[in-house]
Amino acid sequence: MKTQHSVRTHIPVLVDEVLEYLKVMPDSTYIDATFGAGGHTRAILEQEPTCNVVALDWDKKALETYGELLKQEFGNRLSLVWGNFAHLYKVIRDYKEVAIAGILADFGTSQDQIFRTAGLSVYRDTPLDMRMSPAHQKVTAAEIIAHFTERELRDLFWEYGQERYTKQIVSAIIRMRSIQTLRTTKQLAQLIERVVPVTQSNIHPATRVFQALRIYVNKELDNITSFLKEAVRILMPEGRLVCISFHSLEDRLVKQFFKEQADVLHVKQLTLKGITASKQEVFHNASARSARLRAVQKL
Ligand SMILES: C[S@@+](CC[C@H](N)C(=O)[O-])C[C@H]1O[C@@H](n2cnc3c(N)ncnc32)[C@H](O)[C@@H]1O
Repeated sequence: MKTQHSVRTHIPVLVDEVLEYLKVMPDSTYIDATFGAGGHTRAILEQEPTCNVVALDWDKKALETYGELLKQEFGNRLSLVWGNFAHLYKVIRDYKEVAIAGILADFGTSQDQIFRTAGLSVYRDTPLDMRMSPAHQKVTAAEIIAHFTERELRDLFWEYGQERYTKQIVSAIIRMRSIQTLRTTKQLAQLIERVVPVTQSNIHPATRVFQALRIYVNKELDNITSFLKEAVRILMPEGRLVCISFHSLEDRLVKQFFKEQADVLHVKQLTLKGITASKQEVFHNASARSARLRAVQKL
């Protein structure tokens, strides 16, 4: 099993491929829609000494911690913007006059965010919250567990987690919540450990349920759908959009959207099959295992 107990600095995935598909040019401006710990932003700024990056994240802490550090190094070439990428056009209103040569989105959560955000890690006992940005979301995972009907919980764990033991897990939750309120990650993780058969899998048995709750709480799929439309609209002609997904639900949205846009000649697809990490990268960074990159160029 992966060691999950210490803070891990986020290692950016597919960096060479991001640079290749963004095709970073001199004197151009790029948007990093998911700044995180700034690994990709740094790589873009280092690649071309006269380019600029507008870096966005809805996690204030990430911008304060890593953004301010990078600003000391890159000064005015880096602008930091706090907001939800679902509303990209509105969020970057100060840059409306700027031609945007490329947009990157590296969906999901960063390693240190998983560590410091209540509810995200199945290995740490924290309140069952899961909101990446409490300013942008109101409902916590604990509220979903407490108030969703049996049917709603089943649909959620199946659709967003593809959890095989959904029926057993939901029955156990319904029984448990009639006796006590589930408030912490440990309570939920232990309940799932009791009903899911032990397997040789190296993921924790509660991982899929945690994933489903996180996606729902943060409206991750709705945000991606809206982001993709706004990103294509914002790009200058010949500008490039590069997206990295970490599970099939995200990747399916990106793949379908790129295909639809290519069919109506709004974009040209640069990666028909999606690019995955090399064995060597996965060896050094296990998180790269499920990453899939897709890119298009606006026509
Ligand atoms: C995988 S991390 C990005 C890591 C980054 N590429 C790096 O090199 O460090 C994903 C980031 O996207 C942010 N994020 C997720 N959904 C978002 C949204 N709807 N709007 C803005 N930021 C979002 C998360 O807060 C997180 O910091």
